[in-house]
Amino acid sequence: MKSIIVERFGDTEVMKLEEVQDPRAGKGQIRVAIKAAGVNYADIMQRMGTYPEGPQPPYPAGFEYAGEIDQIGEGVEGWRVGDRVMGLCKMGGYSEYTVVPASQALRIPEHLGFNEAAAIPCQYFTAYHVLITLGQLQSGQTVLIQAAAGGLGTILVQIAHHLGARVIGTASTDEKCDLIRGLGCDHPINYKEKKFRDEVEKITEGKGCELIVETVGGRVFDLSLRCLRPLGRLIVVGVASNDPRPVYGSYLLPHNLTVSGFHLNGYLGNAQAMKDAIQCLDVWLEKGALKFLVNHTFPLEEAAEAHRQISDRKTSGKVVLTVGE
Ligand SMILES: NC(=O)c1ccc[n+]([C@@H]2O[C@H](COP(=O)([O-])OP(=O)(O)OC[C@H]3O[C@@H](n4cnc5c(N)ncnc54)[C@H](OP(=O)(O)O)[C@@H]3O)[C@@H](O)[C@H]2O)c1
Repeated sequence: MKSIIVERFGDTEVMKLEEVQDPRAGKGQIRVAIKAAGVNYADIMQRMGTYPEGPQPPYPAGFEYAGEIDQIGEGVEGWRVGDRVMGLCKMGGYSEYTVVPASQALRIPEHLGFNEAAAIPCQYFTAYHVLITLGQLQSGQTVLIQAAAGGLGTILVQIAHHLGARVIGTASTDEKCDLIRGLGCDHPINYKEKKFRDEVEKITEGKGCELIVETVGGRVFDLSLRCLRPLGRLIVVGVASNDPRPVYGSYLLPHNLTVSGFHLNGYLGNAQAMKDAIQCLDVWLEKGALKFLVNHTFPLEEAAEAHRQISDRKTSGKVVLTVGE
């Protein structure tokens, strides 16, 4: 089968399309013929060698897939060849096939295509758990979402809006701001034109936000911390700038602030929280309250171009590699 292999840490030239052996479904496993591979910012950090505890090269890139079961291993019940599934795999999502434990695959909701489904395993579940399971966002509260027009950001905006929160989102262009406004962002801020901290100050009349979802790091992190109101919570979900910053207890203490980290892996084993997330997904899809914006698709062999476009901030919504077309 064809697979994108990261030969060593580095720029996009280290990604090579290679012919590798087809995997086979072992005991308790299914083999999935991948139709759409999710491209995530974490893939870029892994490739560059900046992802904490990321894979060591050479490794097959990608960890998010949507496709059809084409082989079933011994002892697997409840799945049939041809079932449409989505999920996370450790590595090798940018490939024609992946083999995963049958218990970890999720059925693709009816009426969703493979490309849209590829936005669910990483970005939807992250958005849900950040805002609801960990963030405890309530109606009437104000949330600031950094990189709000991205794959994760566009889902965060919609869920926060649906919960009845006042949503402030940052993005780098007017087009991205228009996009998030259409998804329910009450106050999009083009951070290239306006200082987001001053804008948050104005919007909240100096009170600040109850919750901040921070994915950029560096100066954006420092300034975000200053957008919290007393008792506010900032959740570090990513460090796209690769510039993590220290947090000083002496700043948190007088304002009763909380800074927490979030990583999806830590929530996948929480059966009740995952069940709740899937139930909400079904309800929101049914109501039309949640859309997965797949604004950029690339064939598998153009995975490097997909990485370049995300790094250059040219994308919005979900980026997907289409496989086997
Ligand atoms: N902790 C977890 O479990 C988890 C799970 C999913 C995602 N994440 C994190 O969430 C963030 C978003 O992930 P995603 O996959 O949805 O990506 P994405 O938001 O679709 O793409 C990244 C966006 O971040 C913004 N950005 C800010 N600083 C940047 C920089 N220095 N370089 C490139 N882009 C920058 C850009 O938006 P503008 O053009 O508007 O600036 C860009 O479009 C990432 O930090 C990722 O690591 C974490």
